[in-house]
Amino acid sequence: MLDDKPKILMTGGAGYIGSVLSRVLLERGHRVTVLDNFLYNQNSLLDCCPSPLFDIARGDCRDERILADLVPKHDIIIPLAAIVGGPICADDRVAATSTNLDAIRTLCRVAASSQAILFPVTNSGYGIGERGAHCTEESPLRPISLYGETKVEAERVVLGRGNAITFRLATVFGVSPRMRLDLLVNDFVYRALTDRAVVLFEAHFKRNYIHIRDVAKAFVYGIEKFETMKNRPYNVGLDDANLSKKELCEQIQRHVPQFVFFEAPIGRDPDQRDYIVSNARIASTGYRPDWTLDDGIRELLKAYRIVRRVAHANH
Ligand SMILES: NC(=O)c1ccc[n+]([C@@H]2O[C@H](COP(=O)([O-])OP(=O)(O)OC[C@H]3O[C@@H](n4cnc5c(N)ncnc54)[C@H](O)[C@@H]3O)[C@@H](O)[C@H]2O)c1
Repeated sequence: MLDDKPKILMTGGAGYIGSVLSRVLLERGHRVTVLDNFLYNQNSLLDCCPSPLFDIARGDCRDERILADLVPKHDIIIPLAAIVGGPICADDRVAATSTNLDAIRTLCRVAASSQAILFPVTNSGYGIGERGAHCTEESPLRPISLYGETKVEAERVVLGRGNAITFRLATVFGVSPRMRLDLLVNDFVYRALTDRAVVLFEAHFKRNYIHIRDVAKAFVYGIEKFETMKNRPYNVGLDDANLSKKELCEQIQRHVPQFVFFEAPIGRDPDQRDYIVSNARIASTGYRPDWTLDDGIRELLKAYRIVRRVAHANH
C-alpha cells in the first residue's frame, strides 16, 4: 500500500517552501526524504518526525557521494536547496553558484533518466519585461542578478536533461514554519504592522505573487499530471496580482488603516525587476490557485503576532 506512492527526495526541504510542501506531501501519503544542511539553524521540520513516511538526511546537496547514495532510492526529486535571493547571492557568489547551479548539474548526472524532477525557479528570470506586455514561458530570459542567472541556467540544465517540469514562481507570500520576512509581501505586511510605514523606491515597478500553499498545490499537481505536463516550464502566479509596489501597499493599507507609505523622489531600488506575467499555460492544465493576496495578508497579520524579525530572513 505504502509503496504504491512514488518516493520523493526533496533537497532544501527544511526551507520556507520545503517545510510547507513536506507536510502537504506527507498528508497525501507520500514517502518524503529531506536532504538539507540546515543553513539557518531552522527547526522547521520537527513536527514531521513522528511520521513513519518521513526521513531526514543532514548534509550538503553539493556532495556527489550523498546524492549518489540517496537519489537512486527515490522516484521523484524536488531540488529546493539553494542560496535564495539577490542580496545573499551577491554576498557569497561561490556558495550561490555551487549550490544553485553546480549541484543541479551533479543531480542531473546522478539521477537516472527514469527519475522525474520537479524544479522551482524564479520568474525574475524575465528581469525587466516589456512595458504593458505579459511575459509568457516563451518570453526572453534576461536575469539581472546572480541569483536570477544561476536559476535560469539551472532550469536550462534540468529541462535539457528531460523528464522534468519547472515552475517559474512569482514572489511567494504566506506563512511557513521556516518563515522568511525578506520576501516582498511578507516584508511589507510586517512593516505595516510594526513600523506602520514604508518608503518606496520606484514604486511603479510591477511584480507578481503566489501564496506558499498554492506553490505546494502546483507541485502536487505536477506529480499527479507529470506525464502530460513534463518537459515544459510553467509560470505560477496570481493573475489578479500583477501589482506595482504602490498598489501592493494600497492593498495592505485596506487591512492596516494606520499604515502609511511614501514614494521617494530620488533613489533607486537595488532590485530592478519590473514585469507582468501570464499564467495561462498552467491554467490550461486545470490548475487554479486557492489563495488570494487578501487571504495571505490576513494570514500574515495573525502570524506576526507570534513572529519577530530576528533570524527570519535570508539577508
Ligand atoms: N520563496 C520564493 O519566493 C521563491 C520564488 C521562486 C523560486 N524559489 C525557489 O524555491 C526554492 C526554495 O526557496 P525557499 O524560499 O524555500 O528558500 P529557503 O532559503 O527558505 O530554503 C532553502 C533551503 O535550502 C537549504 N540549503 C541551502 N544550501 C544548502 C546546501 N548546500 N545543501 C543542503 N541544503 C541547503 C537551506 O537550509 C534551506 O532549508 C529555491 O530553489 C528557490 O530558488 C523561491
